[in-house]
Amino acid sequence: MISDDLDQLKKTAATEAAQFIRNGMVVGLGTGSTAKHMIRALGEKVRAGMTLRGVPTSQETAALAKQAGIPLLEADNRWEIDVAIDGADQVDPQFNLIKGGGGALLKEKIVASSAKQFIVVVDHTKQVPILGGSFPLPIEVIPFGWGSTAREIESLTKSRVVLRERNGGPFLTEAGHFIVDVHLDRITQPGELETALNLIPGVVETGLFVGRTDVLIIGTPQGVRTVHAPRK
Ligand code: A5P
Repeated sequence: MISDDLDQLKKTAATEAAQFIRNGMVVGLGTGSTAKHMIRALGEKVRAGMTLRGVPTSQETAALAKQAGIPLLEADNRWEIDVAIDGADQVDPQFNLIKGGGGALLKEKIVASSAKQFIVVVDHTKQVPILGGSFPLPIEVIPFGWGSTAREIESLTKSRVVLRERNGGPFLTEAGHFIVDVHLDRITQPGELETALNLIPGVVETGLFVGRTDVLIIGTPQGVRTVHAPRK
């Protein structure tokens, strides 16, 4: 499937996700090419008279939301987020996710976990029987001693750990951290792995989103499928 077609599937699914938003809501705004379509769809709702406020998960998303006319809450507010909508890099049959391909995983996880409802939007190619394999797991780490942190991650996961780079230097997150990408074959126990990784000194957050998805919206060539997670 060529990327224009995939983008159309993302757009259709993201537009469907925007239908979950009601007047007066505070909305967590995800990051990435799928979230971009959702932000545009919300912008149209604002232009049509809907009142809503957004909490952006990256500077890129903040800029898009401003362009779309969505008022934003300040970063240091004690938000009451009704719904957060975001994309994902992989989703398994239990709706667990790998996120962080774009490097925004820390803010994305904070916003998703502050929201009453977390809606994930993907195209069908992101669905996998088991997490890992084709997509490395991003982990945000403190730059100080990152090599030692990476070594600990390597010995825990028995997998290759690669420092993410950008323009010849380490990729820097908006919080000023590094990202290491862990090439795991099969993540059979994502919850246990997330807990173990978070115990390593220097790990700030992982791109594993386990048991957080409430609604999954999938763009497929046969149309959009909306699936609700079983009650937690
Ligand atoms: C950003 O850090 C990521 O978590 C994105 O949400 C994820 O990579 C999905 O991006 P796309 O919608 O661009 O595929």
